[in-house]
Amino acid sequence: MTTTKECITAERGNLLRAKQWRTEGLLRLLENVLEVGEKPEELIVYAALGKAARDWESYEVIRKTLLNLNADETLLIQSGKPIAVFRTYEDAPRVLLANSNLVGRWATTEHFYELYAKNKIAWGGLTAGCWQYIGSQGVLQGTFETFGAVAETHFGQADLRGRWVVTAGLGGMGGAQPFALTLLGASALVAEVNKERALARQQLGLVQHVTEDLSEAISMCLTAKEKNQALSVAWIGNAVELLETLLSENKTPDVVTDMTSAHDALHGYQPVDMTLDQATQLRRTHPDKLVQLSRDSMVRHVKALLALRGNGAVVFDYGNNLRSQARDHGFPDGFQLKVFTEAYLRPLFCQGIGPFRWVSLVGNPDDIRWTDKLLERLYPNHANIQRWIKATKSVPFQGLPARTAWLGHGQRTEVALEINEAVASGELSGPISFSRDHLDAGSMAHPNIMTENLKDGTDAVADWPLLNAMLLTSSGADLVAIHSGGGGYAGYMTSSGVTTIADGSESAAKRLERVMNADTGWGVLRYADAGYDKAIDTANASNLQALGLEVDARQNH
Ligand SMILES: NC(=O)c1ccc[n+]([C@@H]2O[C@H](COP(=O)([O-])OP(=O)(O)OC[C@H]3O[C@@H](n4cnc5c(N)ncnc54)[C@H](O)[C@@H]3O)[C@@H](O)[C@H]2O)c1
Repeated sequence: MTTTKECITAERGNLLRAKQWRTEGLLRLLENVLEVGEKPEELIVYAALGKAARDWESYEVIRKTLLNLNADETLLIQSGKPIAVFRTYEDAPRVLLANSNLVGRWATTEHFYELYAKNKIAWGGLTAGCWQYIGSQGVLQGTFETFGAVAETHFGQADLRGRWVVTAGLGGMGGAQPFALTLLGASALVAEVNKERALARQQLGLVQHVTEDLSEAISMCLTAKEKNQALSVAWIGNAVELLETLLSENKTPDVVTDMTSAHDALHGYQPVDMTLDQATQLRRTHPDKLVQLSRDSMVRHVKALLALRGNGAVVFDYGNNLRSQARDHGFPDGFQLKVFTEAYLRPLFCQGIGPFRWVSLVGNPDDIRWTDKLLERLYPNHANIQRWIKATKSVPFQGLPARTAWLGHGQRTEVALEINEAVASGELSGPISFSRDHLDAGSMAHPNIMTENLKDGTDAVADWPLLNAMLLTSSGADLVAIHSGGGGYAGYMTSSGVTTIADGSESAAKRLERVMNADTGWGVLRYADAGYDKAIDTANASNLQALGLEVDARQNH
């Protein structure tokens, strides 16, 4: 393990530096988000500004505290800054975090940046500030499931063979797009303004070709589409330029979306007709001007998306606040485009199925392969799980070896307990940590991404993620976090995160069972309460003690 600011890597192996696996594991996860993060020297993990800790001083204190934390103590962290250690009890979480939560009327981008400039706040993204990020692989299955649902919904086919998909952004999350698309057999063209980023994704095996020649990129993709071949091409350039070129040449892809960091007009999104260096300079000298240009560009971006939809492409919003930015800049029509969660993923959330993941804390890829076999054995008749496990074997590991699997209520509990037993018996070489993306059924209120157009109109009610976090804390998770949006997401969202470690102990088994049941159960009930039949049926068929569900939810909606 190295601890210089330039290069932090996660500790591997079975030797403990901390007093127990619960704290050693959390420290390794903190190191891991920096190992796989985008700008570790600035503690930035992904999504433009999502940070692992407030500053390097905070990082050092967190590290030392985790090394010394006792089995009945809890560390409290406020927006990346460690505040105190409290005596709690053994089954309590070892770390509690609250990141970037501002009171309603003050939850604005401007106020966030005021506090950020004074080093009084940091944004944790979803998984950066609570050390759950595992690189582009973390969002890969979500991307795979989303595009799989696009294929089924719009083309009546199981994959995207013979389809041309155009998107943008090869950052921490967006980098998963070309890989997921080729797994589904598509011909994929991704615009990325930053050549270094594109080359880094190519090195990781996530994108096949990188070119600066747009005509070449388009013709490679069209040929692949015609031949039903899977192909991914990164074109170095601006998304707006790409879409406007397609319109002027009357070329219409089958599917178009976008995963640039549009949520952040200052640090994330690159305005069109400007070089990266020019934007960097403007950010320093005239930040307001840069924000203005970014938003002008976003309006053009949304107009181009709508025009391509008019020409017959399937177009959807991929959860980056592009539509909201354009709306706040005078162009609301982007909301004619559906958001990916509502359009494709909501039926899964109704069953508590969401982005579950686990990490080998000793860094052993064979342990992850063992878990692949476990899933194959436990769920032989679940076509989606089998399809994913087959596909995911070719995914390159990043950082500590990890696996994602969209599992639902009951399944996560079953898998976590089997894995804890295998750690205890020595079948696995070391502990495994479990977490999930915050974008999960009961853990996120985000009216323009996760909870848009809910049946009962409760899109903006943040009680659900807050109660989720309290429930997980009382269930004995190892780390629980409450996040709200920072930067361009300020005022847009509240979410909760959770990590629990299977160290093979009996106490871990009890805590894992409680945490998994609570987390997925709460997710099902969130959608049941909103009146979704699939969630009500799932709740009624389960062990959940829902109160008055059958009567209330169906009658109210
Ligand atoms: N859909 C999801 O499941 C999901 C999950 C997490 C994050 N997100 C959102 O997706 C967005 C991307 O996340 P990320 O972690 O990849 O961000 P990131 O900041 O790591 O990467 C964004 C990339 O977009 C590129 N870019 C910016 N403007 C561009 C433009 N105009 N044309 C072409 N390329 C441009 C940047 O160079 C960068 O490489 C964020 O807004 C994030 O909040 C979505």
